[in-house]
Amino acid sequence: MENTSLVEKGFANLNKQIQNTLKFGVPVVVAINRFSSDTDAELELTQRLCRAAGAADAVICSHFAQGGVGARQLAEAVETACQQPSSFRYLYDLTLPIVDKIRIIAREIYGADDVELSEEAAAQVERYTRQGFSELPICMAKTHLSLSHDPARKGAPTGFTLPIRDVRASVGAGFLYPLVGTMSTMPGLPTRPCIYDVDLNLDTGNVEGLF
Ligand SMILES: *[C@@H]1O[C@H](CO)[C@@H](O)[C@H](O)[C@H]1NC(C)=O
Repeated sequence: MENTSLVEKGFANLNKQIQNTLKFGVPVVVAINRFSSDTDAELELTQRLCRAAGAADAVICSHFAQGGVGARQLAEAVETACQQPSSFRYLYDLTLPIVDKIRIIAREIYGADDVELSEEAAAQVERYTRQGFSELPICMAKTHLSLSHDPARKGAPTGFTLPIRDVRASVGAGFLYPLVGTMSTMPGLPTRPCIYDVDLNLDTGNVEGLF
């Protein structure tokens, strides 16, 4: 059911994502995926809010339903944005100490006040610094369900301390990855793969058993 005031409230999150991307000095294009339950008023409101928030453009897309043609306008908007002047910059200087780089991400991107390292995380930071890996970039392993570490905190939360449970290194790939909160890095795969329950119904042509 249409509810534009809820869309407006939820926009706090998208607004923060737009501001975060603008920090990198490039124009932002927002792809708004059209769901079958979305109304035109909700989609157009989202589009207006994105533009007012500083996005170069915001395009309603239907490629999931219509294939390539549904993303044509989006492609054109990206092409136009690519021709605009930009001044790309990184969020932090790679030569900063590891904890400073983590803190910059936590404050600037997530909206945290500060970070709090577990004893284990602090020991890892010390170890990687000693081993000469402190200039690697940081890739945070954090829930995608919130800008914070807590999936229940929606919108654009502020006033929290980001807990860093552990810090690991992917030396070959060339980055350090702090584990934020209870985030785990491997999906919990069942011993019986779900593919056993997926089938094609030959009478209806529908795929069954997806979730
Ligand atoms: C929109 O959602 C909010 C929160 O659930 C509710 O209070 C409000 O009555 C809804 N408005 C409409 C028009 O349904």
